[in-house]
Amino acid sequence: MIEAKVIKNESTLLVVEDDPAMLIALRDILEGAGYAVQTAVNGAEALNHLANSRPSLILSDIAMPVMDGFQLLEKVRSRPAGATIPFIFLTARGTREDIFTGKSLGVDDYITKPVTSKELLSAVQARLQRADDFTMIAQLMAAKDSLRVLANAIENKRYHVERVNSYAQALAIELKWDEKRRDALEFGAILHDIGQVRVPEAILLKAGPLTEDEWVEMRKHPVEGARMIEGIPYLAIAIPIVLHHHERWDGKGYPHGLKGDEIPEEARLLSVADTFDAMTSDRAYRKALDKETAKVEIINHSNEQFDPRMVKAFIACWERGEFHEIYEKGTSKQ
Ligand SMILES: [Fe+2]
Repeated sequence: MIEAKVIKNESTLLVVEDDPAMLIALRDILEGAGYAVQTAVNGAEALNHLANSRPSLILSDIAMPVMDGFQLLEKVRSRPAGATIPFIFLTARGTREDIFTGKSLGVDDYITKPVTSKELLSAVQARLQRADDFTMIAQLMAAKDSLRVLANAIENKRYHVERVNSYAQALAIELKWDEKRRDALEFGAILHDIGQVRVPEAILLKAGPLTEDEWVEMRKHPVEGARMIEGIPYLAIAIPIVLHHHERWDGKGYPHGLKGDEIPEEARLLSVADTFDAMTSDRAYRKALDKETAKVEIINHSNEQFDPRMVKAFIACWERGEFHEIYEKGTSKQ
């Protein structure tokens, strides 16, 4: 089961410091900010704590008796459970050699004494946030494959999801979207029609035009899909796409009739990819259009159904042969 994002103020921090007054001051600042704090007066004592628990972050002095901060860091990093714990040195020493030694052992950050409570808290929060982001990315990577299987099964249109994602990624690259954005787009592409699971199969697979009542049912799938994923934190990034992929640039789409820039950009992009794939795929009620005809349809509906910028990106990808390539790969697998 994938856990929800860690709430920072429930994080436990391990503070390692041999100066008793400093240790108390650090503990008070961190506890005052809502963190749970474990303390140790040298590296050896810190290792005892680590045998029984995994703190969210370690904040350690360098110069300490028995076992110094460098030795502690080396031991923490050599254990599988300690390899990813954020580790910050808090030290009066800030020489280049210290920094070099710490970096080579895998320290994440340095804070040089004297430190204000504001500096301390912002360094701790920044490190915890980065660790959360890292965990989230790992969860997202693990989740993608299972979601794909689920989406493909539900859609009853094998490979549709894969092709829509491939078309969408080509458009996003043309628009110079960064990796984070393209990742969110991939989730949206995988899940965009997930709400069709709530549409009766008799409607989804009907071998003829839908009646007005059946269209009412069909048009519920974006809202149903968004509801299905709204309680899952790591899927929140896909909601704008799932909810708005049938909106139209001219405001005549659904579910909300949003117009132009009111429609999330991700959804405007996916709409082109999804429509191109829908037109070039066989459906229960009609045969596929050839890809040249589908291309002309997309261009003809620029500024009506589609954002002209997205159509421009589509034309650029088309002229480089990218849509042909994805289409050819996908047509034997409809
Ligand atoms: Fe849809």
